[in-house]
This record gives sequence, structure tokens and C-alpha cells, in this order.
Amino acid sequence: MNRINPRFLTVKESATLAINQRARALRQEGRLVCHLGFGESPFPVPAPMVAALKAHAEEKAYLPGEGLPELREAAANFLRRQGHTLNAGNIIVGPGSKELLFDLLAILAGPVLVPVPAWVSYAPQAALLGKPFVPLLTSREAGYRLSPETLSEACAAHPGPKTLIINSPGNPTGTIYSLDDLAALAEVCAREGVVVLSDEIYGLVTFAGGPAPSMASLLPSQTIMTIGLSKAFAAGGWRLGLAAVPDALGTLLPPLRAMISETFSAVSAPIQYGALPAFEFGTEIEAFVETTTAIHCAASTYLFERIQASELLCPRPEGAFYLFPDFEPYRESLAARGITTGTGLAQALLNEAGVATLPGEDFGLPPESLTLRIASVDYDGAEVLANFGKPQAPEERFPHLAAGADALEAFLGAGIS
Ligand SMILES: Cc1ncc(COP(=O)(O)O)c(C=O)c1O
Repeated sequence: MNRINPRFLTVKESATLAINQRARALRQEGRLVCHLGFGESPFPVPAPMVAALKAHAEEKAYLPGEGLPELREAAANFLRRQGHTLNAGNIIVGPGSKELLFDLLAILAGPVLVPVPAWVSYAPQAALLGKPFVPLLTSREAGYRLSPETLSEACAAHPGPKTLIINSPGNPTGTIYSLDDLAALAEVCAREGVVVLSDEIYGLVTFAGGPAPSMASLLPSQTIMTIGLSKAFAAGGWRLGLAAVPDALGTLLPPLRAMISETFSAVSAPIQYGALPAFEFGTEIEAFVETTTAIHCAASTYLFERIQASELLCPRPEGAFYLFPDFEPYRESLAARGITTGTGLAQALLNEAGVATLPGEDFGLPPESLTLRIASVDYDGAEVLANFGKPQAPEERFPHLAAGADALEAFLGAGIS
């Protein structure tokens, strides 16, 4: 007797969490050189957030399902300062933006259109919901950004209501959609009535400084933004995210509130108080985000330069913690070593060079794509933060990244000789 709902037979544990566990085990055995597989902020949680969490440890009452009123107000102010017209009533608090994206996908009608390569969880979330998932191909030359032509074609092929996910700065590519890129897509979305889920979890981690351009500035009535604590505020394990649902999409709110009340009820009360300083965005928090983003930029740039020296094809990272190199120039020499897929490449790199990465296939590319996602956060964030401003060579500041880049270079060199 099959006791499992068929929808659950194809889903597996998130690839990123699985590689993290395997890499940790290898590190304990002393066999891991560098963990380029997992994108968690390495920095300590900013002190004002820790103080607020401690001060509210005794809060035990259930909060309203949509969130702590002061936090919703602070988040609305935070987004208003970025130019968005939003009030506390537009903000919903959830246990991570991942959960809110899932809930919104559950409520929104029609297929979900997603530019690929894409974050590992969008497709499985759609699969769990029995929702059609439409991958939209992008090209390395375009920095893996969606083109308006591809979007128009997909809209024509899928008449009726539909949702588009835009993730900028992007995981796995580290690239950012410019305001012009977004304007061209907004025109298609406006014409076709597409609802946009704008996943802005890396919105503040931009190497040029300031928040990344947002679809919500161009198409506010059709765009829902999701943001959270996990990246710029370095508190992924606190599990708190926010969705900003504009008045024009207000009909989504009653079902969203119902879903919250029938599932997680409300986010942990102390955590919501702990999140308040983040979105109040006082000078200490602002300085933390600025400094840590400068460190992310230095780490990504270092890896980018090493990758370029190895003649891999990789768009220049503009934000987030990731690079997405393509090993296509090595296809022949890798094939001679029996490596013909991205997964095979990631496995060989882990086993032969002790470098953990994730294959492009996990992000929706075909198995034969020799792309890998490289996360640039394997360093001691507290130490690097404490030494910020001191003159230090990248090899001294980011020893694991340097060792990983050396191991990668040796791995590739071994194939050529
Ligand atoms: C692109 C992207 N979206 C959403 C999330 C989920 O973030 P949260 O911790 O808010 O659930 C992540 C986390 O890795 C991510 O990379």
C-alpha cells in the first residue's frame, strides 16, 4: 500500500542543506579544504538585535498572525525610505521569506514563471503545491537575466493568471537587474497582468551600495516584495521574513491571514521584537550592513579574479554571496577524466580537491551544463569584521577561500597536463 501522497514522491531535501551537512562531516574529518556550497551570512547578529531579543525573552503571548504591529510599522517605514508607498497594513510577518513565498504561491492562481538558473526552492515549492512551474531560459552573456522577449513568449504560451518570480540580487548568479532591465520586464507584466513576486532577500547586499533596484518601484500595483533577516542582517536561523502586499493586491490578504492562522499561527514573539532594530535601521545597523557588504564584495571579487585567471566563464558578481562559473572551456579535458555533467564535476571537486560547491542542475539547468554555484562566505565573519579596515591580503583575510581557489586551480591544471 502506498501511504505517500504522490506529490511528495518526487521532492527531496533541499540540495543546499544536504551539501552543507556533507561538507560539515568532511570538515570534521579534516578532509574539507573549502566550503563553497552554502550561502549563510558568516557575521554575528548585530548587537542591537541581540539586545532586543534578550530584553523580550519573556514575551510568551501569541502575537497577531500578520505580525507585531510595531514591526510591521518599522518595516513599512524602512520600505518607504526606499521609495515605496506602503503602510503597516501592507506588511505580513512570517517564519522566513521562504515560508511566505510558499504561502503566496499557494494562494496565487495559475503557473509560476521563473528565470533559470534560479534559487533551489522555487521549483520544489511549486511541486509541493501541484502548481505548474515554467522555467524561463536565460543566457550567460546576459548575466542570466530574463529578457522581455522570453517573458512575452511565455505569457503567450500560458494565457490566464500567472506569477513571475524575480530574484535580484540573484542566487545563484550574484547578478542584479538594473532599473532599465526591470522597466522592460514591467512593461510586459503590466500588459499581461502578471503578478510579480520580487524576492529581495539580498536587496541590501549590493556591491555598488544602497538597495538594489526593485520591480515594486516600477509596477507597484502588481508586485509583492519579500525581504527578511537572513542575509544583510545575518540572522538566518532566527527565521523571520516579511512580505509587502500592495493595496491593489489586497484580496490576497484574507486568504494569506487564513493560511497563517491555520499553519504557523504567528512568528515567535521574542524574535519579532529582536527584528525591530533591523528594520528601524538605526546608524549602528546601517554601518553593520555597509561594512559587511564591503566584506562580501571583497570576498566575491577575490574569487571572481581567481576564477577569471582559470579562464572559467562567469558574470561579474554585483551582490549577494554567489558566483556562477561555467567550466565549458574545460569540457574536453574534463570528459577525458570521465566528467561530463555539472553534478559529476561537483562530486569530483569535493572528493578530489576537498571543495564543496553545487551543480547548475540544482538551479534548473540541464545536467550537461558544467556550471557550479560557488558561495563566497567560508570565512570567520566575526574575525574579519573585527579586523575590517586593517591592511590585509585577501589570502590572510579569507584563508579558506584562497585554499579553495588554489585547490580548484590545481584540479583544473591536473586535467590539462
Ligand atoms: C533567493 C533566496 N530567496 C529566499 C531565501 C529564503 O530566505 P529566508 O531565510 O528569509 O527564508 C533564500 C535563502 O537562502 C534565498 O537564497
